[in-house]
Amino acid sequence: MADAVQLGAVVDADPGPQHRGGGIGLARHGECAKDPRRVPDRRDTYEGQQVTIFDNRGLCQHSGLCTDRLATVFRTDAEPFVAPSGGRLDEIIRAVRDCPSGALSYAIDGTEAREQVDRAGTREPAIEVSKDGPYRITGQIDLVGPAGSREGRSQGASLEHYALCRCGHSQNKPFCSGMHWYVQFRDPVPAPGHEPTLFEWAGGAAPGHSPGCAGWRIPQPGGLGCSHR
Ligand code: SF4
Ligand code: FES
Repeated sequence: MADAVQLGAVVDADPGPQHRGGGIGLARHGECAKDPRRVPDRRDTYEGQQVTIFDNRGLCQHSGLCTDRLATVFRTDAEPFVAPSGGRLDEIIRAVRDCPSGALSYAIDGTEAREQVDRAGTREPAIEVSKDGPYRITGQIDLVGPAGSREGRSQGASLEHYALCRCGHSQNKPFCSGMHWYVQFRDPVPAPGHEPTLFEWAGGAAPGHSPGCAGWRIPQPGGLGCSHR
């Protein structure tokens, strides 16, 4: 059985100066060992004429948003992956800001635009259950490990937005590593006319379905919970 991962919301967490999610945090229960086969945690720097792009492949969740939107900058068919002079500045900035894993960032005139990438902390805390994929966290929700300490982050990772594994197969737990695509993780298809319960709405499986992520738990008083197997 794979590692169990459980998430539960924490209220009244001390957010600290870099964590302004309204004092809301997620607490992880259970162990999340990194897979030795994971893509190395290393932030690369790509200097262009008008912008420098930072990218950590070890954090990418392979949503394909950047490559679909700006294939001349974020290239799947060429090395290096990033060509910072391959697109318009405004398009690059938009793509970087929309990266759900927090793997991307950018700098202009040598100064990283972290505040811009992180929407200056203006997004409300939110957890999106993406179809057949990870939880997408936005709004500077803190992430706390089993011992109560802050979860370690990858090099250059955004604290404002990140993606958490929902399939149980990540090589970078508790964060998504894109493995859900390789293992063909699928949310169950509801029967026609089926009204989702709160449990299912929050990402849990309907009765009779057994997706790759088993053991969802209904949000507890003060907590959104799940366990991956
Ligand atoms: S997670 Fe970010 S870097 Fe990875 S494919 Fe998606 S947009 Fe690109
Ligand atoms: S949801 Fe992406 S690796 Fe599990």
